[in-house]
Amino acid sequence: MSTTDLITVDNLVEVYADGTKAVDGISFKVRDGEFFGFLGPNGAGKSTTIKILTTLLRKTSGTVTIAGYDLEKHPKEIRKLIGVQSQDTAVDPELTGRENMMLQGELQQMHGKVLGERVDHLLEVVGLKDAADKRAGRYSGGMKKRLDLACTLVHEPKVLFLDEPTTGLDPQSRNTMWDYMESLNEKQGITIFLTTQYLEEADRLCDRLCIVDNGKIVAEGSPVGLKQEIGADAITITMESSAGATKEATKVAAKQVLSTLPAVVNTIDAEDGLTIYAKNGGIFIPELIRAFDKANIRLVSINVSTPSLDDVFLKHTGKRIRAEELVKQPSRAGFGRR
Ligand SMILES: Nc1ncnc2c1ncn2[C@@H]1O[C@H](COP(=O)(O)OP(=O)(O)O)[C@@H](O)[C@H]1O
Ligand SMILES: [Mg+2]
Repeated sequence: MSTTDLITVDNLVEVYADGTKAVDGISFKVRDGEFFGFLGPNGAGKSTTIKILTTLLRKTSGTVTIAGYDLEKHPKEIRKLIGVQSQDTAVDPELTGRENMMLQGELQQMHGKVLGERVDHLLEVVGLKDAADKRAGRYSGGMKKRLDLACTLVHEPKVLFLDEPTTGLDPQSRNTMWDYMESLNEKQGITIFLTTQYLEEADRLCDRLCIVDNGKIVAEGSPVGLKQEIGADAITITMESSAGATKEATKVAAKQVLSTLPAVVNTIDAEDGLTIYAKNGGIFIPELIRAFDKANIRLVSINVSTPSLDDVFLKHTGKRIRAEELVKQPSRAGFGRR
């Protein structure tokens, strides 16, 4: 990876016609060759940002340059350099995998033998060689996403923008997509800008990432660096409500006790209890149990973990990231429909 900046975004703002401020003054840089991530919950402004960077949506204000080209002055040059996979797959179910890709190439002014060879090569790269001449409507969800990815690669882009490319995929297809994305970045040197709601995905793939919420960047760094910033273990506890006390009153009492313990760095409300950030979790736990015992607070469960990107998100926003959908069965759209 070189240290040249490939994408520079400065104070970018997007206000939609109805007044929704989807992007609220964000600034960041993506280096040449980097696997860069935009991690955030639904509605954070990820797709809006991608649409602007890929010239599909006009920004309200701010500046963007890609490979030295100003987005406003040189959109055509930028379009040649980039590939985009939008959140909804764009493959035509009536065409075969190969036909979808050929069409994509022709739209990019590629023809004949050069295009045919490129398409063959990419079908192999994304593992669709055997299914190349089947109609895309008969592909599984994972295969459609891979075909979509291959379509974005036909014109040999330098930068790939992938908007939640694994959302809706079953775990196995998701893993396969991860492998392809990694290899595109590592073996072919393509810079990748990925958006995701999945902490694990951002953690595994990204060299660097921004955590976004409500149109703002709340944290930026490498996954390891961000997690280290927490500087404490995450201890999630649930408690039995004390006799006659509500769950909330029990939490208040517990927080009061925790505020007297020096190892505690921070305490945040979790769904069923509290998440406590404390130095040296292993040593802290006996101390916690003794203090709760004394105050007549009964613990139901204790769970100690090293910080995750979710803890980073929680620290900066006070809430947890919830991936919108849960894993669905691979889509079988097309079967028996036509
Ligand atoms: N065309 C639109 N008009 C008005 N509001 C929009 C439009 N598209 C998205 N939004 C709103 O902008 C915010 C950011 O949306 P989006 O960029 O799609 O977020 P994400 O991709 O992170 O889920 C959300 O509140 C969303 O409802
Ligand atoms: Mg989106």
